[in-house]
Amino acid sequence: MYPVCLLVLAFVCGSRAANIDDLPPNFPRCHRNDPELNKCILRATETVRPYILEGVPNFSKSVVNFSIPAVVLQDGNQAINYRADVTDMTMYGLENYKFEYFNFNPKNLTYTSKLAFPYIYIEGNYHLQGNIFFAPLKGQGAFHVNVSKYIHIKYYFIFI
Ligand SMILES: *[C@@H]1O[C@H](CO)[C@@H](O)[C@H](O)[C@H]1NC(C)=O
Ligand SMILES: *[C@@H]1O[C@H](CO)[C@@H](O)[C@H](O)[C@H]1NC(C)=O
Ligand SMILES: *[C@@H]1O[C@H](CO)[C@@H](O)[C@H](O)[C@H]1NC(C)=O
Ligand SMILES: *[C@@H]1O[C@H](CO)[C@@H](O)[C@H](O)[C@H]1NC(C)=O
Repeated sequence: MYPVCLLVLAFVCGSRAANIDDLPPNFPRCHRNDPELNKCILRATETVRPYILEGVPNFSKSVVNFSIPAVVLQDGNQAINYRADVTDMTMYGLENYKFEYFNFNPKNLTYTSKLAFPYIYIEGNYHLQGNIFFAPLKGQGAFHVNVSKYIHIKYYFIFI
């Protein structure tokens, strides 16, 4: 889910990591003292959609068929633990993101937002190893997951 969130926010709010000069000139911008800031951002999440689909050179890649080369998930204690290496992961459907609202709270400079996806399909390869009560756990192969109901993510972030 993060790619879309981060992209949209970087696009709309500007990001320190990103080189803003690389952005197309007609890119939507919202100003912090805009009394309609929440509406401006919500509107901008829609106007940036074509850029999110296509990617912007030197700034972001397309989220269509978004691929993540490798992720390691690891957790547990001595008795129960696992490590999953996920490789060649592709996420389909991120481009259908829908931000439902943005609320900026000027007191603590946080945003509350809700992001929804109608469906996401994820595929990749995994390599799993671990222990369950000292019995070894092992497996590997290809996986795919369909998340076909609306996924809602509610989150906070801090405006710097
Ligand atoms: C991307 O960055 C490279 C190196 O900084 C630069 O040469 C190139 O012109 C940039 N491309 C665009 C489309 O801005
Ligand atoms: C995304 O993947 C689908 C299904 O594999 C394929 O039909 C489509 O051409 C791909 N689109 C892009 C932009 O890579
Ligand atoms: C910011 O303040 C609002 C309203 O006072 C509160 O609901 C929210 O939880 C706060 N956010 C954080 C991250 O503290
Ligand atoms: C996920 O959806 C695809 C395309 O609709 C389908 O081919 C596949 O069998 C589904 N997989 C699961 C695990 O439901």
